[in-house]
Amino acid sequence: MRTATPRHFLMCPPTHFAVSYAINAWMDPAVPVDRRRALDQWERLRDVYTGLGHRVSLLDPRPGLPDMVFAANGAVVVGGTAYAARFRNPERTGEEAAHLDWLRANGIPATPSTAVHEGEGDFAVTADLILAGTGFRTEQAAHMEAQELFGVPVVGLRLVDPRFYHLDTALTVLDDGRVSGRPDIAYLPEAFSPAAQRVLAVLFPDAIRVAEADALVFGLNAVSDAYNVVLPAQATGFAALLAERGYRPVGVDTTEFARSGGGPKCCTQEIRPA
Ligand code: ARG
Repeated sequence: MRTATPRHFLMCPPTHFAVSYAINAWMDPAVPVDRRRALDQWERLRDVYTGLGHRVSLLDPRPGLPDMVFAANGAVVVGGTAYAARFRNPERTGEEAAHLDWLRANGIPATPSTAVHEGEGDFAVTADLILAGTGFRTEQAAHMEAQELFGVPVVGLRLVDPRFYHLDTALTVLDDGRVSGRPDIAYLPEAFSPAAQRVLAVLFPDAIRVAEADALVFGLNAVSDAYNVVLPAQATGFAALLAERGYRPVGVDTTEFARSGGGPKCCTQEIRPA
Protein backbone atom coordinates (compact mmCIF):
# COMPACT_ATOMS: atom_id res chain seq x y z
CA MET A 1 0.00 0.00 0.00
CA ARG A 2 1.59 3.25 -1.13
CA THR A 3 0.19 6.74 -0.66
CA ALA A 4 0.87 9.64 -2.99
CA THR A 5 1.15 13.08 -1.42
CA PRO A 6 0.60 16.27 -3.45
CA ARG A 7 3.75 18.21 -4.27
CA HIS A 8 4.71 21.71 -5.31
CA PHE A 9 7.13 21.82 -8.24
CA LEU A 10 9.06 24.62 -9.91
CA MET A 11 9.65 24.30 -13.67
CA CYS A 12 11.05 26.58 -16.36
CA PRO A 13 9.79 26.42 -19.97
CA PRO A 14 12.52 25.48 -22.50
CA THR A 15 11.97 28.68 -24.49
CA HIS A 16 15.71 29.22 -24.94
CA PHE A 17 16.80 25.57 -24.62
CA ALA A 18 19.85 24.66 -26.70
CA VAL A 19 23.06 22.67 -26.50
CA SER A 20 25.47 25.49 -27.32
CA TYR A 21 28.33 24.42 -25.03
CA ALA A 22 29.48 21.15 -23.49
CA ILE A 23 29.77 20.95 -19.70
CA ASN A 24 28.99 17.27 -19.31
CA ALA A 25 29.67 14.05 -21.22
CA TRP A 26 26.24 14.06 -22.90
CA MET A 27 26.37 17.47 -24.56
CA ASP A 28 27.46 17.81 -28.19
CA PRO A 29 26.93 21.31 -29.61
CA ALA A 30 27.40 19.89 -33.11
CA VAL A 31 24.04 18.08 -32.83
CA PRO A 32 21.21 20.63 -32.86
CA VAL A 33 18.25 20.17 -30.52
CA ASP A 34 14.68 20.32 -31.75
CA ARG A 35 13.25 23.09 -29.60
CA ARG A 36 9.67 22.49 -30.72
CA ARG A 37 9.98 18.87 -29.69
CA ALA A 38 11.61 19.91 -26.41
CA LEU A 39 8.68 22.22 -25.72
CA ASP A 40 6.17 19.44 -26.48
CA GLN A 41 7.98 17.04 -24.14
CA TRP A 42 8.21 19.66 -21.41
CA GLU A 43 4.52 20.57 -21.68
CA ARG A 44 3.57 16.92 -21.48
CA LEU A 45 5.72 16.52 -18.36
CA ARG A 46 4.04 19.54 -16.73
CA ASP A 47 0.61 18.15 -17.67
CA VAL A 48 1.50 14.78 -16.13
CA TYR A 49 2.29 16.52 -12.84
CA THR A 50 -0.86 18.61 -12.81
CA GLY A 51 -2.85 15.52 -13.82
CA LEU A 52 -1.49 13.76 -10.74
CA GLY A 53 -2.71 16.64 -8.59
CA HIS A 54 0.60 18.42 -8.12
CA ARG A 55 1.06 22.17 -8.23
CA VAL A 56 3.50 23.55 -10.80
CA SER A 57 4.97 27.03 -10.47
CA LEU A 58 6.88 28.57 -13.35
CA LEU A 59 10.19 30.33 -13.50
CA ASP A 60 10.44 32.96 -16.26
CA PRO A 61 12.93 31.75 -18.89
CA ARG A 62 15.73 34.23 -19.63
CA PRO A 63 17.56 34.49 -22.96
CA GLY A 64 21.19 33.41 -23.07
CA LEU A 65 20.63 30.68 -20.46
CA PRO A 66 20.01 27.52 -22.55
CA ASP A 67 20.14 25.18 -19.49
CA MET A 68 17.59 27.12 -17.46
CA VAL A 69 14.97 24.45 -18.20
CA PHE A 70 16.84 22.32 -15.63
CA ALA A 71 15.11 24.05 -12.74
CA ALA A 72 16.19 21.39 -10.23
CA ASN A 73 19.66 22.91 -10.20
CA GLY A 74 18.67 26.34 -8.88
CA ALA A 75 18.19 25.48 -5.21
CA VAL A 76 17.21 22.84 -2.71
CA VAL A 77 14.18 23.75 -0.62
CA VAL A 78 13.57 21.92 2.66
CA GLY A 79 10.98 22.90 5.26
CA GLY A 80 10.14 26.11 3.41
CA THR A 81 13.77 27.32 3.39
CA ALA A 82 16.03 27.46 0.34
CA TYR A 83 19.72 26.83 -0.06
CA ALA A 84 20.33 28.67 -3.33
CA ALA A 85 22.75 27.31 -5.90
CA ARG A 86 26.15 28.51 -6.96
CA PHE A 87 26.84 26.91 -10.32
CA ARG A 88 30.14 25.29 -11.21
CA ASN A 89 30.26 26.51 -14.83
CA PRO A 90 30.21 30.20 -15.82
CA GLU A 91 27.72 29.31 -18.58
CA ARG A 92 25.07 28.74 -15.91
CA THR A 93 25.84 31.29 -13.18
CA GLY A 94 23.30 33.71 -14.70
CA GLU A 95 20.59 31.33 -13.50
CA GLU A 96 21.38 32.04 -9.85
CA ALA A 97 19.74 35.48 -9.81
CA ALA A 98 16.63 34.18 -11.57
CA HIS A 99 16.15 31.55 -8.87
CA LEU A 100 16.84 34.00 -6.02
CA ASP A 101 14.29 36.41 -7.51
CA TRP A 102 11.67 33.66 -7.73
CA LEU A 103 12.32 32.45 -4.18
CA ARG A 104 12.10 35.96 -2.75
CA ALA A 105 8.97 36.80 -4.76
CA ASN A 106 7.38 33.66 -3.34
CA GLY A 107 8.28 34.37 0.28
CA ILE A 108 10.78 31.54 0.57
CA PRO A 109 13.81 32.61 2.62
CA ALA A 110 16.93 31.85 0.60
CA THR A 111 20.51 31.48 1.75
CA PRO A 112 23.00 31.91 -1.10
CA SER A 113 25.79 29.39 -1.08
CA THR A 114 29.45 30.20 -0.51
CA ALA A 115 30.41 26.79 -1.97
CA VAL A 116 29.60 25.42 -5.40
CA HIS A 117 26.40 23.38 -5.41
CA GLU A 118 23.76 22.71 -8.05
CA GLY A 119 20.60 22.37 -5.99
CA GLU A 120 18.62 19.19 -6.29
CA GLY A 121 21.02 18.01 -8.96
CA ASP A 122 23.24 16.94 -6.06
CA PHE A 123 20.90 16.95 -3.04
CA ALA A 124 18.30 14.22 -2.55
CA VAL A 125 15.98 14.82 0.38
CA THR A 126 14.29 12.28 2.64
CA ALA A 127 12.39 12.94 5.86
CA ASP A 128 15.33 12.19 8.12
CA LEU A 129 18.42 12.75 6.02
CA ILE A 130 19.75 14.43 2.93
CA LEU A 131 21.94 12.53 0.47
CA ALA A 132 24.48 14.76 -1.22
CA GLY A 133 26.63 14.13 -4.27
CA THR A 134 30.13 15.40 -4.94
CA GLY A 135 32.87 14.61 -7.42
CA PHE A 136 31.85 16.54 -10.53
CA ARG A 137 29.79 19.60 -9.64
CA THR A 138 28.90 20.16 -5.99
CA GLU A 139 31.72 20.84 -3.52
CA GLN A 140 31.87 18.96 -0.24
CA ALA A 141 31.81 22.25 1.67
CA ALA A 142 28.24 22.71 0.42
CA HIS A 143 27.21 19.49 2.18
CA MET A 144 28.18 21.02 5.54
CA GLU A 145 26.49 24.32 4.66
CA ALA A 146 23.28 22.43 3.88
CA GLN A 147 23.48 20.55 7.19
CA GLU A 148 24.00 23.79 9.13
CA LEU A 149 21.10 25.46 7.30
CA PHE A 150 18.54 22.65 7.54
CA GLY A 151 19.62 20.84 10.71
CA VAL A 152 19.19 17.53 8.92
CA PRO A 153 22.06 15.02 8.67
CA VAL A 154 23.73 15.31 5.27
CA VAL A 155 25.43 12.19 3.95
CA GLY A 156 28.12 12.88 1.36
CA LEU A 157 28.42 10.44 -1.55
CA ARG A 158 31.22 10.49 -4.12
CA LEU A 159 30.24 10.10 -7.78
CA VAL A 160 32.90 8.51 -10.00
CA ASP A 161 31.46 8.14 -13.53
CA PRO A 162 31.32 11.31 -15.67
CA ARG A 163 28.14 10.10 -17.38
CA PHE A 164 26.47 10.32 -13.96
CA TYR A 165 27.82 13.71 -12.98
CA HIS A 166 24.90 14.82 -10.78
CA LEU A 167 23.49 12.72 -7.95
CA ASP A 168 20.04 12.85 -9.57
CA THR A 169 21.33 10.90 -12.58
CA ALA A 170 22.43 8.01 -10.33
CA LEU A 171 19.99 7.98 -7.40
CA THR A 172 16.36 8.79 -6.82
CA VAL A 173 14.17 9.04 -3.73
CA LEU A 174 11.07 6.91 -4.31
CA ASP A 175 9.49 7.52 -0.93
CA ASP A 176 10.82 10.30 1.26
CA GLY A 177 9.26 8.57 4.26
CA ARG A 178 7.32 11.62 5.43
CA VAL A 179 4.04 9.68 5.46
CA SER A 180 5.13 6.04 5.37
CA GLY A 181 7.97 6.47 7.86
CA ARG A 182 10.07 4.24 5.62
CA PRO A 183 12.30 6.11 3.16
CA ASP A 184 13.01 4.18 -0.02
CA ILE A 185 15.49 4.91 -2.79
CA ALA A 186 16.83 3.45 -6.03
CA TYR A 187 20.37 3.89 -7.36
CA LEU A 188 23.08 2.72 -9.71
CA PRO A 189 25.83 1.32 -7.44
CA GLU A 190 28.67 1.63 -10.00
CA ALA A 191 28.15 5.38 -10.25
CA PHE A 192 29.50 5.73 -6.70
CA SER A 193 32.90 5.23 -5.08
CA PRO A 194 33.32 1.88 -3.28
CA ALA A 195 33.02 3.66 0.07
CA ALA A 196 29.84 5.46 -0.96
CA GLN A 197 28.40 2.13 -2.16
CA ARG A 198 29.00 0.69 1.31
CA VAL A 199 27.38 3.72 2.95
CA LEU A 200 24.29 3.35 0.75
CA ALA A 201 24.12 -0.38 1.49
CA VAL A 202 24.15 0.33 5.24
CA LEU A 203 21.59 3.15 5.10
CA PHE A 204 19.27 1.58 2.53
CA PRO A 205 19.74 -2.21 2.58
CA ASP A 206 16.46 -2.73 0.71
CA ALA A 207 17.02 -0.12 -1.99
CA ILE A 208 16.37 -0.94 -5.63
CA ARG A 209 19.65 -1.40 -7.45
CA VAL A 210 19.07 -0.27 -10.99
CA ALA A 211 20.84 -1.68 -14.06
CA GLU A 212 23.17 0.57 -16.03
CA ALA A 213 20.99 0.32 -19.15
CA ASP A 214 18.12 1.96 -17.26
CA ALA A 215 20.39 4.64 -15.78
CA LEU A 216 21.81 5.46 -19.23
CA VAL A 217 18.34 6.46 -20.43
CA PHE A 218 18.05 8.68 -17.32
CA GLY A 219 15.74 6.23 -15.56
CA LEU A 220 17.04 7.42 -12.19
CA ASN A 221 16.25 11.02 -13.07
CA ALA A 222 12.77 10.30 -11.75
CA VAL A 223 10.21 12.28 -9.77
CA SER A 224 8.14 10.41 -7.19
CA ASP A 225 5.23 11.42 -4.99
CA ALA A 226 5.73 8.21 -3.00
CA TYR A 227 3.36 6.30 -5.32
CA ASN A 228 3.51 7.67 -8.89
CA VAL A 229 7.05 7.62 -10.24
CA VAL A 230 7.52 9.81 -13.33
CA LEU A 231 10.48 8.52 -15.34
CA PRO A 232 11.68 8.24 -18.94
CA ALA A 233 9.55 5.66 -20.79
CA GLN A 234 12.72 3.99 -22.08
CA ALA A 235 13.68 2.81 -18.57
CA THR A 236 11.56 -0.32 -18.86
CA GLY A 237 13.61 -2.56 -16.56
CA PHE A 238 13.42 -0.05 -13.72
CA ALA A 239 9.70 0.50 -14.37
CA ALA A 240 9.09 -3.25 -13.92
CA LEU A 241 10.97 -3.24 -10.60
CA LEU A 242 8.93 -0.25 -9.44
CA ALA A 243 5.65 -1.97 -10.26
CA GLU A 244 6.75 -5.07 -8.32
CA ARG A 245 7.26 -2.83 -5.27
CA GLY A 246 3.83 -1.28 -5.47
CA TYR A 247 4.80 1.97 -7.17
CA ARG A 248 3.07 3.22 -10.30
CA PRO A 249 5.62 4.02 -13.02
CA VAL A 250 4.51 6.86 -15.29
CA GLY A 251 6.61 6.93 -18.46
CA VAL A 252 7.36 10.23 -20.18
CA ASP A 253 9.48 11.19 -23.18
CA THR A 254 12.37 13.52 -22.34
CA THR A 255 14.78 12.43 -25.10
CA GLU A 256 15.39 16.02 -26.24
CA PHE A 257 16.68 16.89 -22.76
CA ALA A 258 18.90 13.80 -22.65
CA ARG A 259 21.02 15.56 -25.29
CA SER A 260 21.91 18.04 -22.60
CA GLY A 261 22.37 15.37 -19.91
CA GLY A 262 18.94 15.72 -18.33
CA GLY A 263 15.60 14.04 -17.73
CA PRO A 264 12.34 14.63 -15.84
CA LYS A 265 13.94 15.32 -12.46
CA CYS A 266 16.40 17.87 -13.85
CA CYS A 267 13.40 19.83 -15.16
CA THR A 268 11.68 19.74 -11.77
CA GLN A 269 12.58 21.32 -8.45
CA GLU A 270 10.46 20.35 -5.45
CA ILE A 271 9.40 23.17 -3.17
CA ARG A 272 9.01 21.49 0.22
CA PRO A 273 6.74 23.43 2.57
CA ALA A 274 7.46 24.27 6.19
N1 ARG B 1 23.26 20.66 -19.31
C1 ARG B 1 22.99 20.73 -17.90
C2 ARG B 1 24.28 20.77 -17.11
O1 ARG B 1 25.19 20.08 -17.48
C3 ARG B 1 22.14 19.58 -17.46
C4 ARG B 1 21.70 19.68 -16.04
C5 ARG B 1 20.90 18.49 -15.63
N2 ARG B 1 20.33 18.68 -14.36
C6 ARG B 1 20.30 17.78 -13.40
N3 ARG B 1 19.63 18.05 -12.32
N4 ARG B 1 20.98 16.66 -13.48
O2 ARG B 1 24.42 21.48 -16.16
